[in-house]
Amino acid sequence: MLNPIKVGILGLGTVGGGTVHILQHNAEEIARRAGRGIVVSHACAKELNKTHPYNTDSIQLTSQLAEVVNQPEVDIIIELLGGTTVARELTLQAIANGKHVVTANKALIAKHGNEIFAAAEKQGVMVAFEASVGGGIPIIKALREGLAANKIKWVAGIINGTSNFILTEMRNKGREFSDVLKEAQTLGYAEQDPTFDIEGIDAAHKLTILASLSFGIPLQFEKAYTEGITKITAEDVGYADELGYRIKLLGIAKRIQKTTAQGVEEGIEVRVHPTFVPRRHLLANVEGVMNAVLVQSDMLGQSLYYGAGAGALATGSAIVADLVDIVRALTTDSGNRVPHLAFQPSGLSDLPILPISEINSAYYLRMTALDRVGVLAQVAGILSQNGISIEAIRQKEPTAGNARVSIVLVTHKVAEKQADKAIAAIEQLEGISGQVMRIRLESLEG
Ligand code: HSE
Repeated sequence: MLNPIKVGILGLGTVGGGTVHILQHNAEEIARRAGRGIVVSHACAKELNKTHPYNTDSIQLTSQLAEVVNQPEVDIIIELLGGTTVARELTLQAIANGKHVVTANKALIAKHGNEIFAAAEKQGVMVAFEASVGGGIPIIKALREGLAANKIKWVAGIINGTSNFILTEMRNKGREFSDVLKEAQTLGYAEQDPTFDIEGIDAAHKLTILASLSFGIPLQFEKAYTEGITKITAEDVGYADELGYRIKLLGIAKRIQKTTAQGVEEGIEVRVHPTFVPRRHLLANVEGVMNAVLVQSDMLGQSLYYGAGAGALATGSAIVADLVDIVRALTTDSGNRVPHLAFQPSGLSDLPILPISEINSAYYLRMTALDRVGVLAQVAGILSQNGISIEAIRQKEPTAGNARVSIVLVTHKVAEKQADKAIAAIEQLEGISGQVMRIRLESLEG
């Protein structure tokens, strides 16, 4: 067997530590799979004197990122810095130095992936990013290789562990939002800036990547519709249950075909938002920090990919899988590399990403109304004028001393722009106070 290949890590935090542990713990098995050993020889860490739960004797530690990226004996760089500025510069530097790169940085790929892949292709090196979506779940491999025979219709995923953990704890234990968020941070699930988790940005980064891999389009993070879970109340969670649903933060990417006066138009929806999912659906039962991606493709039909979406060993597992892929390609020198975005660069399509106003959806609507004659009839009238049909409706007895009640409606499918018009009109009614809460609903069938 050849000498072990040397790897440098930028960022020896939770995921970096998990990666080192896996490489040491499963060293023999990994070498048998890769055809060659894989060792971390250099790493850049914030605190050099920190004690780690794994052996760092053979790792040359430095506080200088450039020292790792410019190290001649290192063949592969693992980028675990997070953020998109320094991470982008160092990734491009590593590529320019002829090094292969493995990254878990979804923001980096979603925002700068097009540039990074072009640089890598020019330089003849590989950039692998399995850990960037779904933690340890091999969803990128599945979309890129396992489903290569299929035309993908849509993907729908729970791809942010922190928000799924929060929604699960709120529903199961009636816990407070902020209290659960703190626990997710302590457990190492949350991003450095946790607003990325709860505002849907992290999920939108990951969905951007899934959309490109599914439909062969360039990465276009700026066009993704992004809405987080911060407005979800305990009341919504309770109503969802009563109506036979659960609220999940879903990332949905869907290929749409519409017949208009101009002919057949195609486009792609890329949207992250809280979603009512039928309670018995498999996705509704993905709990805690677990992630899952449901793929609807034309030949296989539905397939579901489930597993730990965050954490040191789960994410480390995906990083090591990428290392093994790179080492295999180098060892066999087959030249048979899977394209970064699943489709050959020359085969990428220019299908447009559709604005959220173009989607069709069913909706859960919750509003606060004065408990007096005619308000519900006015609401129903506005919905009917906008061609919105009601599937279910709930109104609770007002609590003692309260002149206001919650009205909850589930609608049939309608164009989002029509729903916008109806909601704006309802909010103008004298008998309605505050804003109407709207959560989109997906049946997740064919
Ligand atoms: N903050 C992310 C999550 C980590 O909660 O899913 C994994 O990408």
